[in-house]
Amino acid sequence: MASAETFRAPADAYDRHVGRYGPQLASALIAFAGVEPPMRALDVGCGPGALTGALAERLGPANVCGADPSEPFVDACRSRLPGVEVAVAPGESLPFADRDFDVALSQLVVNFMRDPEAGVGEMARVTRPGGVVASCVWDYAGEMTLLRAFWDAAREIEPERAAAADEGVVMRWCAEGELGELWRAAGLDDVRLDALVVRASYASFEDLWSPLPTGVAPSGAFCKSLDTERRAALRDAYRRRLGVGDGSFELAARAWAVAGTVP
Ligand SMILES: C[S@@+](CC[C@H](N)C(=O)[O-])C[C@H]1O[C@@H](n2cnc3c(N)ncnc32)[C@H](O)[C@@H]1O
Repeated sequence: MASAETFRAPADAYDRHVGRYGPQLASALIAFAGVEPPMRALDVGCGPGALTGALAERLGPANVCGADPSEPFVDACRSRLPGVEVAVAPGESLPFADRDFDVALSQLVVNFMRDPEAGVGEMARVTRPGGVVASCVWDYAGEMTLLRAFWDAAREIEPERAAAADEGVVMRWCAEGELGELWRAAGLDDVRLDALVVRASYASFEDLWSPLPTGVAPSGAFCKSLDTERRAALRDAYRRRLGVGDGSFELAARAWAVAGTVP
């Protein structure tokens, strides 16, 4: 399954998986990009709306739009955020006019675009000259603990298949500085980079594990593809690698952020 397809999933499963980090990451990305009233903002690949909601709170719903190709996620975003215009559309073909926004953002999306160069080009097209285009991606190969430990455990259980799906390997932009190349290639000026570190809380390992067998996100799709025995082995290896049990715990996650100015 193409990785973007794994987000045609119930929003609730996404919320309990990677979405748990979304609101904190959104606040950090908004601060990094310098989003302030009275700006008008677009959230590309908005999903169920973690960043869209944070933007609407800061700028007012009428000044925020979202777009995502996943219908279940767009439905969730629309019902959670009345007054925000949300389109079913990929980043590569945004249904918005040239220079319509002061800022275009995307959170954890660029790696899932079919054509990221076209997607960033579209974000620049719909942003006014002097406006900001900003984004972030997980540090899949390093300090995104939830996913790094998942793929390390998966590689213990099914070395070849997991190596071919490991997001720390297959994601094109997941090392420090890499997004800068994409932003400069899109013709954006004053390109700047940062690391955003956020945390999420879990009631127990079961709380962390429960969304994965639904198949949400590439990690969930891999989990769902295993037979019962291998899935149980993955669960054990994952829990051991995280070093957690029945009690509550927190995990940290690092994302690489980039921002540039439209000439
Ligand atoms: C990891 S989720 C991030 C969702 C949301 N931005 C957040 O922070 O919670 C990746 C999102 O990218 C969306 N996506 C997949 N392909 C896309 C594309 N070509 N253009 C824009 N978004 C895309 C998925 O539907 C999904 O909502």
